[in-house]
Formats: sequence, structure tokens, C-alpha cells
Amino acid sequence: MSIWEQLRQIKEDGLRELENFLDAKELDSIRVRYLGKKGELTAILKQMGKLSPEERPAVGQLANEVRQALEAAVAASQEKLKEKELAARLEKESLDVTLPGKRRPLGGLHPLSIVQNDLIDIFQSMGFDIVDGPEVETDYYCFEALNVPKDHPARDMQDTFYLGENLLLRTQTSAAQARVMEQRTPPIRIVCPGRVYRADEVDATHSPVFHQMEGLVVDKGITMCDLKGCLEQFAHEIYGPETKVRFRPSFFPFTEPSVEVDVSCSECGGKGCRICKGTGWIEILGAGMVHPNVLRGCGIDPDVYSGFAFGIGIDRLTTTRYRVSDIRLLFENDGRFLSQFQGR
Ligand code: DAH
Repeated sequence: MSIWEQLRQIKEDGLRELENFLDAKELDSIRVRYLGKKGELTAILKQMGKLSPEERPAVGQLANEVRQALEAAVAASQEKLKEKELAARLEKESLDVTLPGKRRPLGGLHPLSIVQNDLIDIFQSMGFDIVDGPEVETDYYCFEALNVPKDHPARDMQDTFYLGENLLLRTQTSAAQARVMEQRTPPIRIVCPGRVYRADEVDATHSPVFHQMEGLVVDKGITMCDLKGCLEQFAHEIYGPETKVRFRPSFFPFTEPSVEVDVSCSECGGKGCRICKGTGWIEILGAGMVHPNVLRGCGIDPDVYSGFAFGIGIDRLTTTRYRVSDIRLLFENDGRFLSQFQGR
């Protein structure tokens, strides 16, 4: 066979093989066999030296044409292969969109957290800062700084878990008051939400751990009037604008005068029902004007500044709002109970 014939034969054979390859591996081996360094075309070109100088350019040109034709055919085959592979993948990965979806169980906020967040929103909108205080507290901040010395009978109002002589689980978020007054200078406007502990027997309305939110405002010229306005605003936001608010004289060692605050029962509108035990009122917090001894003990001059404070019972607010009949439900974490608050 002449070199011309050989070149034509290579082209013909190569193109035919490239029509009928099976897969990527075979395509590549065809490419190497014809176009590779040790391939057939190269082998022929090596014989060019034996040709006469007149023949060489024409043979060279034909060889180039053959190479280009084969290269183009390889490229086209590679493209075809890619398309085939894509089509196969799409076929294999096709989704059955008519299959029903899997539902994941969804968590939600605990009712106490919902109420606490609402309280935070209300007081934040009135310009209060949110502060945090330790649950393991010293006797000083929980009692002494709040005008309750060691042998004071008011200590009996709260049955305390002592962790040592001067260390205890805070019985009231009021413990945050002195900490804040020591650190800040008036005007002070804070609320402190959190857990508190008392050695109480567990029953439908008592738990050894419960939740409070302390509020404290100290500035020049603060009066009982500011306390009433603030708490009325709060009660209306929580229970609705038709809610009536009642202040009853009371006693707390760290306030003078002291009050307990009731709201008209949102269940019966004040007529008397099971929730309000027939009284038409629900007690929600204790409050008062900060005692001069407390201010003085924290380095604030009671002749210049005055303040009010309040302590809201978050658990009571939660059980009345959601008509939960037993406080223990708030602490048992039964999914059947908690799931009722999803999305509230
Ligand atoms: N700490 C009180 C309690 O646990 C509630 C309270 C009453 C807080 C009057 C106050 C206050 O800040 O002024 O019963």
C-alpha cells in the first residue's frame, strides 16, 4: 500500500470505529490508537523521510487533513458521550414528586418563655434594660441589702435553700436590685427575669422553683404615681385595655409603702369564677417605693433620689393566661401539654 492509501485507510477505519464505540474507555483507546504518540498516524509520518522532496508537501497536507478529521470526530464523539451520560443521570435521578413528604416534628417555646418574652417586650418598649442575676446568690444581695438583716422576722416570709452560711438559692429576683444599684448611677430602669427557689411543698399552686421578673426604677422625683402608671400600662398590655387594676396596701421590707397588685379576672371579667376563686381578682405582683435604707446601702442618696420596684410572678401569669389548672404541668415537660403551645 502506498503512503497515500495508508493515510486514507487510517481515516476511513478511524471514522468508522468512532461511529461505533461503546463507552468512554473505548473512545479513549481509539483516540490513542490513531492519534497518540505511538499511534498509527504518527507511525506513518515517521516514514515521511523516505519520500522524495516533491512528494512530501502533498503527503504532509493529506496527513494533516486526516488528523483534523479524526480529531473532530473524537471531539464530536466525546460530546455525544457527555450528552448520553447526562441523559442517563437525569433518568436515574428522577424524583417522584407525587410521594408524600416526611413531616418533622416541630418544637416550640415553653409557655413560661412565651410569657417571659412578652413581659420583656412590654418593658423594653417602656425603656427598661434587661439584666441578669445569679441564681446562686449571697445572703447579702438576697436579704441584707434589701433591708432584711439576719435575725429579721421577714426572713420567715420566704423559706430559703441555704448552700452555706452566706450562700443560697435566690428566693426572689429582688436580689438583682442592689447589684444593679451598686453598678449603675441613676436614672436606672431595669427588669430582671429569672428562676427563683423556695423550700415549699409541691402542690397545684406551689413549686420549689418558679419564675419572677423584678423591676426597678430609680431617678429624681419618682413617685407612687409613676409606679401606678407603669403597672397599669403593663396590665393593660398583658390582659387587655378593659382590665381593672387594684392596689392593696401590703408589706415588704425593701419598700415603703408596699402594695400588692391585683387585676380583674380575665376569665369572668370580675364576676367571680374558679380561676379567681370567686373574688373577681387575681394577684399578680408585689411592689412599692424603694425603702430609703436600700438606696442608702447601695450608695444612692435617698434625699436626692427615689424609686419604685416590683416583682411579677411569671408562673401565675402563665397559668391564668392559658387556664392551666396545675402549676406542676409547667415543670413536667410532658409533650402532650407543651405541644399545645406550638406557634403561639
Ligand atoms: N420579692 C417579692 C416576692 O418575692 C416581690 C416584690 C415585692 C418585689 C415588692 C419587689 C417589690 O421589687 O418592691 O414576693
